[in-house]
Amino acid sequence: MPQLIAGNWKMHCLAADAVALAQGVAAGAAGVEAELLICPTALHVAAVAAALRGSSVAVGGQDCHQDAQGAHTGDVAAPMLLDAGASWVILGHSERRQNHGETDELVREKCLAAVAAGLTPIVCVGETADQRSGGQETEVVGWQIAGSLPKPFSGVVAYEPVWAIGTGKTATNEDVATMHAFIREELVRQFGEAGQTIRILYGGSVKPSNAAALLAVPNVGGALVGGASLKADEFLTIARAAQGG
Ligand code: 13P
Repeated sequence: MPQLIAGNWKMHCLAADAVALAQGVAAGAAGVEAELLICPTALHVAAVAAALRGSSVAVGGQDCHQDAQGAHTGDVAAPMLLDAGASWVILGHSERRQNHGETDELVREKCLAAVAAGLTPIVCVGETADQRSGGQETEVVGWQIAGSLPKPFSGVVAYEPVWAIGTGKTATNEDVATMHAFIREELVRQFGEAGQTIRILYGGSVKPSNAAALLAVPNVGGALVGGASLKADEFLTIARAAQGG
C-alpha cells in the first residue's frame, strides 16, 4: 500500500489562497507515488475539490458531527463533506480534543458517522508533554486507540504527539519507531489480522528536511502535515520523500 501524505490546513487560507494552493499541489502531483490528500476548512472543501478535479489529489474535512443531520448550529455533517467532494475526514485531532473537549467516545461516534457517509476517517492520537515526561505515553495512546476506533475499523490512525505539533520539535526516529510498533501491536490485538494493514501516519512538525527519515521508520504509513502543507513546494517535497505501493 502506498504511503499517505495528508495536509491539514487547519484554520488557514481565504478562498482564493486555498484554490491557488490546491492548484499548486495538483500541478506537482503527477509522478508522485504516494497517495495525496489535502484537508482545507469545511467551507473550502467544495472549491478545493473543484480545483483538484482530474488530479490524483483527494480532499478531506478536518472534523464532522456524529449525527448525519439535525439541529446542531455551526456543525458540519459527514454526508455534507462527501457531497462537497471530500472522501476523507480527520477526526479527534488534539486541537479538537483540547479546544472542544472531544472525548474518545465522541471521536468513535464521529468515526461511525464518517464511515456510514462513505468517508475514510483519519483518527488522531498522541500524548502531551506531561504524559510523556511521566512515562505514560504508550498507556495514553493505547487508551485512545481502544476508545476512539470503532470495531471493525476501516480507516487510518495518525500518531501526533501533542508536544510536536506546530512547535518545530519532532519526535526522534527512535521514539516514532517505538510508538508506531506499539500502535501496530495494539491494532493487531484489537482488530486481529486487519490491524496489520491499517496505515499509521506520523504527524508533528514534519517538514522537507526530516520527512525522508521519518517516512523510512518501520510502521510509518505516511505523514499528517500541518504548517509545511501550506506551501505547495514543501508539501510536494515531503510527498516525493514518501514510498509508493
Ligand atoms: P505541524 O506539522 O504544523 O506540526 O502540525 C501537525 C498537525 O497537527 C497535523 O495535523
